[in-house]
Amino acid sequence: MDFETKLANTLALLKKIEAEYSPAVFAHSFGAEDMVLIDLIARNQLNIGAFSLDTGRLPPETYTLMAKCAERYPSVKVAVYFPDAAQVEAYVNTQGINAFFGSVELRKECCRIRKLEPLKRALAGKKAWITGLRREQSPTRTDMAAQEYDSGNGLEKFNPLLEWTEKEVWAYIRANDVPYNELHDKHYPSIGCAPCTRPVAMGEDVRAGRWWWENPDLKECGLHAKKH
Ligand code: ADX
Ligand code: SF4
Repeated sequence: MDFETKLANTLALLKKIEAEYSPAVFAHSFGAEDMVLIDLIARNQLNIGAFSLDTGRLPPETYTLMAKCAERYPSVKVAVYFPDAAQVEAYVNTQGINAFFGSVELRKECCRIRKLEPLKRALAGKKAWITGLRREQSPTRTDMAAQEYDSGNGLEKFNPLLEWTEKEVWAYIRANDVPYNELHDKHYPSIGCAPCTRPVAMGEDVRAGRWWWENPDLKECGLHAKKH
C-alpha cells in the first residue's frame, strides 16, 4: 500500500472514531508515532482528547518535549496522570528505588503501579482509546488489529498507525516539521522510563533498548496486554 493511501486510511479511521466512539482518548507517550497522531488530531481539529501517563521516571528530554508539544498544539490538551503516591511509596520503601531490575515480577509490579493503575483512571468513562502502536515494532505486536476490543479495560482500542513503517513515521515528521524527542537522534528509537530504556546499536530491533535484560517475546509493560 502506498503512503498516501495509508495516510488517508489513518485519517478516515480517526474521523470514524471521532464520529462513532465519542468520548475517545489518545494515549500520548510523546514517542515519534504519538507525535504524528497529535499532529493529525490538531491539524484536522478532531474532537479527541489526549492523556499521558507520567510514571515519575521519564527522561528529562521527554519533559522538554511535553512543554514543546503544548506550545505547538495548544488546541489539544494532554491530561497528565500520575501514579498513586501511597502505592509508589509502599513499593519503593519495601523493594528499593530501582527494584525493577531484580526480577520480571518486580518490574511488572512497578509498571502496574506507575502505568496500569493510572491508565484505568484515564480510560474511565471513555468509549475508545487510541495508541501509536505499529505492527513491526515487536514480536508481541504482529497479530494486532487496527480496531480491537480491549477486554481488560472494557472499551474499544484503535491503533491507526498499525501498518506504518518506521520510515513513514519519520517522513511524516520531517515533512510537517513535527517536534520530537531529542533522544531519537541519539539512537533511542523507542523511549519509555529512563532507567528501563537504553540506546540501540546499528541494526538492532527498534525495541531492543526497552527492558533489554528481558526476553523479547514477553517484554510488554501491560498497557497492551494480549487478549486471551
Ligand atoms: S510500551 O507499552 O512499551 O510502553 P510503547 O512505548 O511502544 O509502549 O508505546 C506504544 C503506545 O502506547 C504509545 O504510542 C502510546 O499510545 C501508548 N503509551 C505508552 N506509554 C504511554 C504513556 N506513558 N502515556 C500514555 N500512553 C502511553
Ligand atoms: Fe517502572 Fe521501568 Fe515500568 Fe517505568 S518502565 S514503570 S520504571 S519498571
